[in-house]
Amino acid sequence: MTKILVAHDGSKLADKALKKAVEIAAKFDSSLTILSVVPELYLTELSDIDRQRIMNILTEESKAAMERIRISLSGKPFESKTIIRQGPPAEKILETAQKMKVDLIVTGSHGRHGAKKFLLGSVSSKIVDYATCPVLVIK
Ligand SMILES: Nc1ncnc2c1ncn2[C@@H]1O[C@H](COP(=O)(O)OP(=O)(O)O)[C@@H](O)[C@H]1O
Ligand SMILES: [Mg+2]
Repeated sequence: MTKILVAHDGSKLADKALKKAVEIAAKFDSSLTILSVVPELYLTELSDIDRQRIMNILTEESKAAMERIRISLSGKPFESKTIIRQGPPAEKILETAQKMKVDLIVTGSHGRHGAKKFLLGSVSSKIVDYATCPVLVIK
């Protein structure tokens, strides 16, 4: 059985990536892990209290997105789980992929920040550059 890691940032393209990963998992009896990384904020102009507030909101958003996905995948004929990590997104995705020894990482080409003038978003481009396994980028 192959292991697939889906990087999900709550964006529409991440949903599209998940949909493709679900198709693949159903065909090849793969297990799916959906990972949401809550980014850390480095904005120095923020007070610690504001930083904490924003982190709490982002964490709640991630939890809600993963819960929605968990429910949508329950009853599917393959194994799946959702996980949340905190830190720099690309690094955490790559680290998780290595630790879990996944066979494939699936991401969207763009995410929530949507600067579409670039071919790939910064997270997906780092994953393509540094992953040690195959990467499927959905656009
Ligand atoms: N914080 C995150 N947690 C999990 N996956 C992420 C995260 N940020 C981005 N991704 C993945 O990378 C894809 C591309 O996003 P990104 O490179 O951040 O583009 P953009 O610059 O448009 O936000 C997303 O569709 C998602 O699959
Ligand atoms: Mg982004």
